[in-house]
Amino acid sequence: MQSITILGATGSIGVSTLDVIARHPDRYTVYALSAHSRVDELAAQCRQFQPKVAVVGSADAADQLAALLRAMNLDTQVAWGEQALCDIASAGEVDGVMAAIVGAAGLAPTLAAARAGKKVMLANKEALVMSGQLFMDAVAASGATLLPIDSEHNAIFQCLPADYRRVPAAAGVTKILLTASGGPFLKRAVETLDTVTPAEACKHPKWVMGPKISVDSATMMNKGLEVIEAHWLFGAPAAQIEVVIHPQSVIHSMVSYADGSVIAELGNPDMRTPIANALAYPERIASGVAQLDLTQVGTLQFEKPDFKRFPCLALAYDALQAGGTAPALLNAANEVAVQAFLDERIGFRQIDRVIAGVMDALPHGPASSIEAVMAQDAAARAAAERAIAALGHPLKAANA
Ligand SMILES: NC(=O)c1ccc[n+]([C@@H]2O[C@H](COP(=O)([O-])OP(=O)(O)OC[C@H]3O[C@@H](n4cnc5c(N)ncnc54)[C@H](OP(=O)(O)O)[C@@H]3O)[C@@H](O)[C@H]2O)c1
Repeated sequence: MQSITILGATGSIGVSTLDVIARHPDRYTVYALSAHSRVDELAAQCRQFQPKVAVVGSADAADQLAALLRAMNLDTQVAWGEQALCDIASAGEVDGVMAAIVGAAGLAPTLAAARAGKKVMLANKEALVMSGQLFMDAVAASGATLLPIDSEHNAIFQCLPADYRRVPAAAGVTKILLTASGGPFLKRAVETLDTVTPAEACKHPKWVMGPKISVDSATMMNKGLEVIEAHWLFGAPAAQIEVVIHPQSVIHSMVSYADGSVIAELGNPDMRTPIANALAYPERIASGVAQLDLTQVGTLQFEKPDFKRFPCLALAYDALQAGGTAPALLNAANEVAVQAFLDERIGFRQIDRVIAGVMDALPHGPASSIEAVMAQDAAARAAAERAIAALGHPLKAANA
């Protein structure tokens, strides 16, 4: 029986994780669940899974949750804040941690799980993008098991030899091919992108996801963050990580080998597959995902990404090449710009302009400590907010 903490239980990945866990009560118990502010959803999850601890983002939310749990006669302990998240990620009773908080807020608890030597199931790509080498060092020092949840990285993980040690040449790996659906704006006329709405940007053609990653998919920053994530997970330089547009999202990624072989992982686009893969690794368990019928899919298409249409992808490659704290700057500026777009304070095409402006304006330095990374994160957030305040929304400006 494995005892699991889910960080970000009320989100898209959290809900899918609980769906898989509910199918296997003989294998998994839930030690702790966390949410930020969606207290009602978390209370309902507590009723079903009866965790020992539930963590939320504020004292008010904790009071509300405690009242709901009392009314349900549940003895789940309620806590709030970052230290409480770190505690449920590193508690002695915990075997595995699903790291599914969105954004930089997930860094501290995900790192706490890594430092405590847990099985870390990593959905929160932003944590690895920000802290890169520091995170991988923590995993190595504690002997934690790091399992990727992003469907692309989970696919690559499955396509690599079981004893892969983050050295591509030693395993005959020549390239990592990250597939990308291209998002909702793959074919939309570029000159109309200034006026797309948050609802349009969040309507992903293949995946159902939270709002931030949905906008990241529309700008392809998501793929850019994944390039950086792949670099750290698999030890490949930027030049060996190639993005391939594959609109059907049936192939979740591929690995090219020196002998000309290309190994791919295929399946229906449903995050329960990589989640089940990580929960049960190295075994295989049912996930609830329907078996892939290739005769129904019919055609698989591939094309090169257009870096002019998707400047965020180029910005991410630049940040990876620059190294140090550059990916943390990129990530922070992106989080602020995406939130501003979702709040309708800037237009879609201004997201990449805000990020590029921050990357140009702020010098990056060595990522020598988590404190150095967090200082750059804070500086980039402030610079991005200043840039957003100066820009204004293109539609609102036109209508003024
Ligand atoms: N969704 C996917 O298919 C998918 C695929 C690959 C990778 N990922 C990655 O997985 C992570 C989660 O994505 P998602 O789509 O599941 O996001 P989501 O649906 O927006 O859920 C985010 C979760 O994090 C919590 N949260 C939000 N802000 C927080 C904060 N400041 N402090 C603590 N908790 C906070 C939310 O709580 P509330 O509900 O209370 O707001 C929710 O439980 C992201 O890093 C994303 O890139 C997602």
